[in-house]
Amino acid sequence: MNNELNVIILAAGQGTRMKSDLPKVLHLLGDKPLLEHVILTAGQLGADAIHVVYGHGGETVKKSLAHMDVNWIEQEQQLGTGHAVDQAMPAITGNKPVLILYGDVPLISQHTLAHLLSEVDDNTMALLTAAMNDPTGYGRIIRDVSGNVTGIVEQKDAKPEQKTIKEINTGILAVKSDLLRRWLNMLENNNAQGEFYLTDIIAIAAKEGIAIKTAKPAALSEIEGVNNKIHLAELERVYQRQQADALMIEGVTFKDPARFDLRGDLRTGKDVVIDVNVVIEGKVSLGDRVYIAPNCVIKDAQIGSDVTIHPNTIVEKSRIGDGCELGPFARLRPETQLNNHVKIGNFVEIKKSTVDDHSKVNHLSYVGDTTMGKRVNVGAGTITCNYDGAFKHQTVIKDDVFIGSDTQLVAPVEVGEGATIGAGSTVTHDAPAGQLTLSRAMQKTRKGWKRPQKNK
Ligand code: UD1
Ligand code: CA
Repeated sequence: MNNELNVIILAAGQGTRMKSDLPKVLHLLGDKPLLEHVILTAGQLGADAIHVVYGHGGETVKKSLAHMDVNWIEQEQQLGTGHAVDQAMPAITGNKPVLILYGDVPLISQHTLAHLLSEVDDNTMALLTAAMNDPTGYGRIIRDVSGNVTGIVEQKDAKPEQKTIKEINTGILAVKSDLLRRWLNMLENNNAQGEFYLTDIIAIAAKEGIAIKTAKPAALSEIEGVNNKIHLAELERVYQRQQADALMIEGVTFKDPARFDLRGDLRTGKDVVIDVNVVIEGKVSLGDRVYIAPNCVIKDAQIGSDVTIHPNTIVEKSRIGDGCELGPFARLRPETQLNNHVKIGNFVEIKKSTVDDHSKVNHLSYVGDTTMGKRVNVGAGTITCNYDGAFKHQTVIKDDVFIGSDTQLVAPVEVGEGATIGAGSTVTHDAPAGQLTLSRAMQKTRKGWKRPQKNK
């Protein structure tokens, strides 16, 4: 049945309570716009077509999600949810199951929806409802004495006794398109808000003797909409916890899953341990036995096995081999490649460089546009001067080089295999292999020199 499924996502709301220039459905949950979450879930259901009803001026929405395979439908004036759904009906031919979703209700699950859809046939529609302690604001589900649904009444139209009903309309429903099309044409807007209410189709269905089955979501967060930044923050935590749970099922240990953020896609090996306040962005993979200490940000990185990342380390667009150790307070900038057993220590910045096996840059250094060989030891405070104000230049450091502390390597420059650079040198010409090179003013001592003193 799902290969016939048409999903209509309502996304025309202004979202004024977000107090933002960004349309509401483009606000992010994790790394993805709210609407993208809904589109992806619809896709997981195997929908044949996904129709997104966007509002006048919602061009930004269309542009931001242009990569998604959906049918964009403009609703020029927002005349109500029934009117919004009706905009999509010309795009649905034949008698197919239709599922109505909302662009600002991002955590609805595939499981709940698949169950809802399984109830639908030519004479049965399905409605997702929920029991709320505080149902204020929602449409209430009206049932007859036998418990059959006979209608939905909106908060603003509800009589006092109807307002006490705790079963609410989530707005999510599924019905065959022939029925839906006909019922939408029967809607009127003589209600408190002067809108064409989608919810009015329920009373029509009941009168026509169509069975209205109800289903409940597994969790209330599934049906919660985002109307302001408080809702957004609440759902962000729910979403993050879901992601952490999925990773824990895969075997990842979190010191505190409530203090973890994944804004992208994380793949992990065995016995990975992630400490508190770690943020993972983009596409990241971790090998076996990786430990990430507190306050690290890892973005678009491939990290091998047995890697330890000490606190406050930032890694971006980098590849890291096995057995490496980074930080604390290290920064790996884009296009960095560390091979195996490399050590990058505190206050070290590496940019667009390759560092080969067993090399160490342990303290307070900048290495940029550099190719470094194996077993190199870079002393504290070493700087590659890769930029002359106009162009970037390369530094090449061959295997088994020892660079003394506080050295500047003025690129382009090459340090030959096994060379030693004396501490405090400014290296402006290639340093030959196997030799000691240094550039340093001779040390002098002035005998009998006295420090000036103030007269008392
Ligand atoms: C709607 C339901 C209510 C339900 C509640 C759940 C109706 C009449 N009422 O009320 O029973 O309890 O959702 O949250 O359906 N939209 C459009 N175009 C429009 C109008 C709305 O795209 O012309 C979109 C909005 O962007 C929003 C959604 O539809 O995402 C719901 O519309 P809204 O007006 O907020 O309905 P509620 O009053 O919340
Ligand atoms: Ca110096």
